[in-house]
Order: sequence, then C-alpha cells, then structure tokens
Amino acid sequence: MTYEEIERSVSGHYGWSDLMETIEDEIRRHGIDPPEVTVAQLAPVDNYHWLRLAGTLALADAAAIGGGERVLDVGGGIGGPARQLASRVGCHVTVLDLTPEYCVVGERLTEWTGLTELVTFVHGSALDLPFPDGGFDVLWTQHATMNIPDKPRLYSEIARVVRPGGRFAMFDVLAGPHQPIHFPVPWASDQTCSFLLSPEQTRGLISDVGFREITWATDEDPELHAALAKPDPLGEPESAGDGLNPGLLNGPEGPRMAENVQRNMEEGRICFAMGVFERL
Ligand SMILES: C[S@@+](CC[C@H](N)C(=O)[O-])C[C@H]1O[C@@H](n2cnc3c(N)ncnc32)[C@H](O)[C@@H]1O
Repeated sequence: MTYEEIERSVSGHYGWSDLMETIEDEIRRHGIDPPEVTVAQLAPVDNYHWLRLAGTLALADAAAIGGGERVLDVGGGIGGPARQLASRVGCHVTVLDLTPEYCVVGERLTEWTGLTELVTFVHGSALDLPFPDGGFDVLWTQHATMNIPDKPRLYSEIARVVRPGGRFAMFDVLAGPHQPIHFPVPWASDQTCSFLLSPEQTRGLISDVGFREITWATDEDPELHAALAKPDPLGEPESAGDGLNPGLLNGPEGPRMAENVQRNMEEGRICFAMGVFERL
C-alpha cells in the first residue's frame, strides 16, 4: 500500500458519517443540552487514548505547558486533550488530524465549550505538516503515531515545526518484544494500518532529529504510574459512574478492541511510553 492508500484507510477506520449525531444523542441521553456541555463532561469520550483524562493530565504536567504557549496536537482527534489544555492553562492549541469527520466534530464541540478563540482544527497529515518552521512552542501527540508508517519523516516534521528550546510531548503505544499483535485494536482493524516501533527505536529516532530527552517512562516504570495517580488539580471526576460512554468512538467493535489491548499488553506485544523532549 502507498502512504496515500494507508492514510485513506486510517481515516476510514476512524471516521463515520453520523458521528456528530451519535455524540449529540449520547450527550442528550445524559440530560445535557448539547450546546451546554462542558469540557469535563466530554472528557470520557474525547480524550481518545488508553489512559483517557489521567493520561492527558500526566503528560500536561510533565510538559509544563504555560499560558499563551502555542501548542500543536498532531493526530489530535476530536480535540479533547486540546480543550483540556486550553481551558486549564490558557494556551493556544492547533489540532491537526487526518480524519475530516473528527475535525468537523471537534470544531462543534469546541464551539459548544466556548473555546474557539483558543482551539482550532486543521485537516491534514502528520507526514506533511502545513505549518512554518519553528512555529510552535510545544508539539504534543497522544496515540496517533501507531497509524503512521514513515517514522523518520514523522519525527523530522515534528522537529521542523518546534522552535529551538521548545518541547515535544508524547504518549504512545509502542511495540513490545513479542510480535505480532492481536487485532482489532482501537487504532486498526488489521496489520495494514498499524506500525509500531520499540521504545528504543522510538527514542533513537527522536534524538536523531534534534531532541534532548527530559523525561521518559514506560508502563513498566513506577514513575509513570505515580504520574497517573496524581489527583486532578480541578478535582473533576473523569467519569462519575453515569458519565458519557468512554467506548463511544470505538464503535460496536469496542469491547473486542479493549480486550485485545489488554491481551497484547499482558503478552508483551505492546507497551505504553510517555516522554518529553527539548528541541536543540
Ligand atoms: C486514537 S486517536 C487519538 C486522538 C487524540 N490524540 C486523543 O488522544 O484524543 C488517533 C488519531 O490519529 C489520527 N491520525 C492517524 N494518522 C494520522 C496522520 N498520518 N496524520 C494526522 N493524524 C493522524 C487519527 O485520525 C485519529 O484522530
């Protein structure tokens, strides 16, 4: 498959035509008028990665993002992490995503939560970032690189758009020592759209494009578990039992996907890593 074919297949995997209506119905089902929904109420659905809001908050803490900083979220999905960062810190976040339906949904949710001044969406590919050199203070990505086959080009593009002294903050699924992995998983129905590198290969590539490591932890390291266990400074429960459905974006295959993620972890086929790097 060419990169273009892979990207079409990846955006087809994530996007569905009635996604906006499905999310609106889910919000109404909880007695909330959609335009009144809050960033906190959306958190179980729109922080679309394995550790959800806790993972987003741990990475935000590690990256020490400040008010007014310009952040690019590559593969930012429907923008849950971006809205968390913007509403908590007051930074400006540009969400770049390959799936057109996600950009449309993300813009609507951002409008409803009153954050359009701080969060904007751009449809495009991480392999060809439509931004000038050094235009961002922070490059952020969570659970998107698994779908990207050309990692050297991905990390070169990331390095290009971060200013010297800026940071690269990542939280990703990586390859464990035992391959192949079991499918379907939330990011791919089969192996044609899944491209995982090991933690060591990933760190090596990031360093090769001009980053210095500040922090790095995998799910085997107690530091990561400690970071995830930190209480939310806003004290917001991610999902207070009757919150929005955290499996909504995975669709009907969600339970099988979640089972496979668990099994892949237990069998050493995948692992998770969180890292922050400084652009030299
Ligand atoms: C599992 S979702 C994670 C979304 C978001 N990072 C979050 O944590 O909520 C993966 C996202 O990566 C995006 N993606 C995959 N390949 C991409 C690429 N080549 N360029 C840009 N986005 C991509 C998908 O469209 C999808 O929105």
